[in-house]
Parts: sequence; structure tokens; C-alpha cells
Amino acid sequence: MPKAKVIFEDIGVAVTVPAGTRLIEVSEKVGAGITYGCREGECCTCLTKVISGGDNLAAPSVLEDQVLKDNMAPRNHRLACQAQILGGEVVVRPA
Ligand code: FES
Repeated sequence: MPKAKVIFEDIGVAVTVPAGTRLIEVSEKVGAGITYGCREGECCTCLTKVISGGDNLAAPSVLEDQVLKDNMAPRNHRLACQAQILGGEVVVRPA
């Protein structure tokens, strides 16, 4: 299975995960500071800044796009409960 690497800048931890993993699943396991609520792409609690490697995340769904817009999320921010890591390397930190 293809692998991908996620680096949580806030805690200085790098994790290798299977492609298709959602950011929140990893951040929860390693204790990064990304908080969450609904886990369904509605509350925007899990807003996460993508420092680099944003192209290695699956494009936002219509729902995620709408929630990001509704919450006036800055550029390069994603919902950790929705963003799937496709491969390569992604560096993130809590928004
Ligand atoms: S936890 Fe609610 S939008 Fe991600």
C-alpha cells in the first residue's frame, strides 16, 4: 500500500501512514494539538494549517469547501477530519 508522511510541526513529530488516511486520525494518535468536534466536516473545530505539501492532500469536497468558506478560513487551511493524505509529505500545524 502506498505510504505518505505527515509532519506535525507543533509537536515536532513525523509519521508514516497509509495513503488515504485522514489527518485527524494521525493527529489523534500522536497527540498533536489539532482539536476536533463533529468529525464530519461541519463544525470547523479541526481547522488545520497546511505549511507545505498541500498538493499531497485530496482536493476538498464540496462540503469541506463550503465549511471553509463559511468560517472564512485563510488560504492553505483544511479540515483535518476531511483531508486525506494521498502520498509524499505534508507538514501541518493547528490553525
Ligand atoms: S471536526 Fe468538525 S469539521 Fe472537522
